[in-house]
Amino acid sequence: MAPGRSAQGEDAAGGRCGRTECAGVPMKQSVLVTRAVFPDVVERLREHFEVEDNPSDRIWPKAELIERLHGKVGAFTTGSVPIDAEVLAANPQLRAVCNMAVGYNNFDVAACTARGVLCTNTPDVLTETTADFGFALMMAAARRISESEHFLRRGEWTQWFYDMFVGSDIHGATLGILGMGRIGQAIARRGAHGFGMRVIYHNRSRLDAAIEAECKASYVGKEQLLRDADHLVIVLPYSSESHHAIGAAELALMKPSATLTNIARGGIVDDAALAKALAERRIAAAGLDVFEGEPTVHPDLLTVPNVVLTPHIASASVATRRAMANLAADNLIAALGFGPNAGKPPSPLNPEVLRP
Ligand code: GLV
Repeated sequence: MAPGRSAQGEDAAGGRCGRTECAGVPMKQSVLVTRAVFPDVVERLREHFEVEDNPSDRIWPKAELIERLHGKVGAFTTGSVPIDAEVLAANPQLRAVCNMAVGYNNFDVAACTARGVLCTNTPDVLTETTADFGFALMMAAARRISESEHFLRRGEWTQWFYDMFVGSDIHGATLGILGMGRIGQAIARRGAHGFGMRVIYHNRSRLDAAIEAECKASYVGKEQLLRDADHLVIVLPYSSESHHAIGAAELALMKPSATLTNIARGGIVDDAALAKALAERRIAAAGLDVFEGEPTVHPDLLTVPNVVLTPHIASASVATRRAMANLAADNLIAALGFGPNAGKPPSPLNPEVLRP
């Protein structure tokens, strides 16, 4: 038995054969909860399924994840749990994988679709909380909040002086948003309506005029966005196309007084190039919640002072994390044919696999 695996879980899972009855008595289907989550959400799943969970929150190596998925028809995942062709091939009984995250670059959706595995994520419930955080990070970078706090904690504050930690204003400045989905739009509304910012955005496709008007946002090309923004916020989904969408060449187009905030995914920004631009003051400051190869952080980002660093917590309010966990559970329950939405999970990514 794998370390930490309960005898009950192994038995109830029907081992690898995925049995659905034992001596004529129907057995509950088995699901895997891959990371620790609110216990009451696990209990909700136990009303319908045999659940193997991971209360110790140890990160399972991929081989162990594959092994633990044997006999499971569904999985509750987070954005760091890979569900790719190898995992699917080793688990042909799998029918649904439900992320507690809006991002889903941990899923190979095409491979899931090819095998009839439903993928779901947790949009909407985290939009406003994540936009709040993006705004906070942008403001912290612009107004040098981390940098000045460290100065204070080091005991270096001996007197006030006229240009102590002067930064740049948010109100009245130009907010540039790269990626104008739900979260980008929520940031735009905060900037335009709350802080009197001029809002410009770049997106793969231009938004409807009504949404642009509501967000008071103007569409511009990517180069103009980089050149004009006083504060650039990145809210793109990660994909091979968005890998290093911001590298040395893009950073070179930005104003020396500009800030960059990334709340999307590591890998969209070339962190080494960003650390160099910050060290050389080619841009003023950055706020980063996501990193290439996280939880490892590029060592140069740890030594430059003009960057605010947070550990991927943009959606981390209690209410929102609970809403995300419950939505992921709703998806799993419905995808496997239970609950009030049986057969109609609220947020499918590949609804084509749902049979009528
Ligand atoms: C967090 O990064 C998410 O995708 O929900």
